Amino acid sequence: MQESTCGWLQGTSGIGLAVTPLRMEQMNLSSILTNFTPDTLTTHSWGRLKAALSLHKKTTGMCLQQASYDEDISDAEKVYQECQQSGPLSFSDCIPPARMKHCSKIGEGTFGEVFSTINASNETVALKIIPVEGSQQVNGEQQKTFGEILHEIIISKELSCLNMKEINKTDGFIGLNNLHCVRGHYPEALLKAWDKFDRQKGSENDRPDFFDDEQLFLILEFEFGGSDLENINGKLSSLVQAKSVLHQVTAALAVAEQALCFEHRDLHWGNILVKNIKHKHNEFILNGTVHSIETRGVHVNIIDYSLSRLEIDGLTVSCDISNDEELFMGQGDYQFEIYRLMKKENNNCWSTYNPHSNVLWLHYLAEKLLSMNYKNKAQTNQQRTLKSALKSFQAEILSYPSATEALRNGRFFQ
Ligand SMILES: Nc1ncnc2c1ncn2[C@@H]1O[C@H](COP(=O)(O)OP(=O)(O)O)[C@@H](O)[C@H]1O
Ligand SMILES: [Mg+2]
Repeated sequence: MQESTCGWLQGTSGIGLAVTPLRMEQMNLSSILTNFTPDTLTTHSWGRLKAALSLHKKTTGMCLQQASYDEDISDAEKVYQECQQSGPLSFSDCIPPARMKHCSKIGEGTFGEVFSTINASNETVALKIIPVEGSQQVNGEQQKTFGEILHEIIISKELSCLNMKEINKTDGFIGLNNLHCVRGHYPEALLKAWDKFDRQKGSENDRPDFFDDEQLFLILEFEFGGSDLENINGKLSSLVQAKSVLHQVTAALAVAEQALCFEHRDLHWGNILVKNIKHKHNEFILNGTVHSIETRGVHVNIIDYSLSRLEIDGLTVSCDISNDEELFMGQGDYQFEIYRLMKKENNNCWSTYNPHSNVLWLHYLAEKLLSMNYKNKAQTNQQRTLKSALKSFQAEILSYPSATEALRNGRFFQ
């Protein structure tokens, strides 16, 4: 993804909007980074946030063009504000030794390494550690800038907070507990965890041992969401659980569409986490109406908003991937076809709202769930019926304009 420009912000108002704070209960109780969180949460106006993002103004036609936004607050200051810091911390300030030694690597992406550890309340959390602002390439890519990283910060916060809303509420997006900016070379304990992952699973990333003392990192502390669908292929019990996964993902997307005009845009099976839970039902609220989903013992969390788009009070946060040729050239999996289909449907204009992109990803997900392996291989009548229902779902889903409509009208969910 060489040429994407994340962090587009475009809008008509820009006045008086507040950046949603992190999940309060987690901020106060269970963050491993609590020591550095002020007692009272501050919120920042969008006017100030705009200083850190590129402002896109409407020009002729549908697409937007970048215009520089002059304000005396630098991108760095904006990120530090979001972290509620005045400057970078050290790794050891941020992850105390006792917690550092519990770190194990659980995942990786192009821009970040993800480690699990425990927080003050002994809960497992996930730390996504992303190098920023440096000149060295990481995993073959330029490091993200502060401006680009704000895109992920804002969207992670907004979606995390959907868990606390009243009109459109869902806990289907991963909870963000806290975030911090640190400076320094990569800690030994994390390199050891990195090596272990590499030995056991094989890493596609560069070993992060080449950073110097000046390197900056953003650390996002998320709730631990379980394992991604790609990694648990063969571990879901049966299509009964698969149906619940599909239902939960559709509901989360529908709620985010209604609340934030949200499109995920990269919902491949590595970005859908599943964990076992005891609750039989999962509730969500769509436009004021409470609904319930049978969990069948699994809870779903959507992650990774690198390409996502949303709107708050007329301001759009999106990622311009119109020139990212590599992204649209992928072969070998239906996932890559979805990027091309999204591009075709939005005429390569990535700021506008096209909720059908969420539907494209649901179509992809249905296909993955149909081709996945399951623990229970018995061909019972129930399994056969479910399989044909899932196939019918797949056949009809593309005709819905949004996840909201698929949820409301899809026979599969009735
Ligand atoms: N909160 C989390 N809980 C559990 N695993 C996670 C969590 N966040 C990320 N992961 C794991 O790390 C991987 C990479 O994280 P992701 O946010 O998708 O990074 P990238 O943007 O680089 O793809 C995911 O596919 C998943 O396996
Ligand atoms: Mg990912």
